Amino acid sequence: MRRKKEQPLLRGVMITDIGSEGNAVARVNDMVLFVPGMIPGDVVDVRVIRKRRRYMEGIAVAVTNPSPDRIEPPCRHFGVCGGCRWQHLPYEKQLFYKEKQVKDNLTRIGHTTIPEISPIIGSENEYFYRNKLEFTFSDRRWMTRNEIAGGKEIESSPALGFHIPGIYDKVLDIHECLLLPEPSNAIRNEVRSYAIANGLKFYYLRDHKGFMRNLILRITSAGEIMAIMIMAEDQADAREKLMDHISAKFPEITSLWYVINTKHNDSLADQLPVHYSGSEFITETMDGFRFRVGPKSFYQTNSRQAARLYQVVREFAGLTGIENVYDLYTGTGTIACYLASRAAAVTAIEYIQEAVADAIINASINKISNVSFIAGDIKDVLGDALFAERGRPDVIVTDPPRAGMHTDVVGAILRSGAGRIVYVSCNPATQARDIDLLSSAYIVTRVQPIDMFPQTFHVENVVLLAKKSEGLKV
Ligand SMILES: C[S@@+](CC[C@H](N)C(=O)[O-])C[C@H]1O[C@@H](n2cnc3c(N)ncnc32)[C@H](O)[C@@H]1O
Repeated sequence: MRRKKEQPLLRGVMITDIGSEGNAVARVNDMVLFVPGMIPGDVVDVRVIRKRRRYMEGIAVAVTNPSPDRIEPPCRHFGVCGGCRWQHLPYEKQLFYKEKQVKDNLTRIGHTTIPEISPIIGSENEYFYRNKLEFTFSDRRWMTRNEIAGGKEIESSPALGFHIPGIYDKVLDIHECLLLPEPSNAIRNEVRSYAIANGLKFYYLRDHKGFMRNLILRITSAGEIMAIMIMAEDQADAREKLMDHISAKFPEITSLWYVINTKHNDSLADQLPVHYSGSEFITETMDGFRFRVGPKSFYQTNSRQAARLYQVVREFAGLTGIENVYDLYTGTGTIACYLASRAAAVTAIEYIQEAVADAIINASINKISNVSFIAGDIKDVLGDALFAERGRPDVIVTDPPRAGMHTDVVGAILRSGAGRIVYVSCNPATQARDIDLLSSAYIVTRVQPIDMFPQTFHVENVVLLAKKSEGLKV
């Protein structure tokens, strides 16, 4: 049998930067070396696991001299859970590297000369800032290296928690997560205990067998709670007993739902949630607005920062009351509602029907009558026919998912003749790619990064693009 060639061990490597996906970076012999989990200032011994022409990837086998910046991570799952990988980096340094990520993407991928970037807006809450989490059931618990190294016989046991990054069938059993306020931990832990005590089978992602599949929890700033239990099979008796148990144990849940998802993927976009008890929605309030959120609707996951994000969008949109505005990827219509009072009309587009239904109600409960919503895929809806019907946009606000905009959408924006585009993104790399595509007609005039996700490398960014002929007026 051929022996696998041992990869080199590099000793005393100094981490100097943080690169894409939040991975620490060192330079070794003019090559970039990525070392996940480390922070600038760490000196480490690194086992190289992959060597390419321009870069290497490695695993730190020992931190010989920890960075003076390191702080103690408060979460007991740190280092194994893929969720909050920057807990050992002080918050102000996290903000520094997020801002840098935005600059790097805009210049390298966007090929744009950028104006001065406004300093990143940090989050007041560094923990417990989320309003939604999704947990996964798996009948294969992820064993930590320490458990395995401990040498004891370990029984494979079920888990309810988060996926291990890069490993799709194993789940880290989460007992305490510091992102969503209580009673989120209590509910998740109780559902797990109940399922184990009652022999309910946890889903196994490889063969798609099992009953308990996902648990989604949402908690508003005012403490309303939505719980959605997702099962992979319709076992009426087991389901009713489980739902009754959750409802009796947590009377504070204001909106309780379940979904029977028999597909192989977890997406709920095409699923029909069944209302079990309480209200059919939760209501979030923000800057005097009230937003109703249903089980399938997108709502920004950091409510406090969402308000600041929308204030930036409103400022960048520069509305005077006469503009025709298009709000692309509107979700539950939050941005459309924010802008309505300063615009002549707003056309908002979103493809989740249920989110559009919530958006229409949101406009109505906020007494807004100049916004109209269209349910459909933006790449099919946005185009000359729509411009002819609703008028060409003066301002377009676009807030696509991480994948960015479809090229047909970019094409339609270019044809629209809009004077300004406010581009909101949770992925500066795809945002920069799209900005490059828009650069034939638009220039970047303002950039405002916002941190919606402390302890992670993720960053939200708002860019104002002005039509070249009108660029100087901005
Ligand atoms: C990042 S969210 C933004 C939502 C909203 N602007 C907000 O601030 O809450 C993206 C939204 O785009 C919707 N979406 C994704 N792809 C779409 C498409 N091709 N056409 C229409 N809507 C889409 C998603 O359902 C989601 O509601």
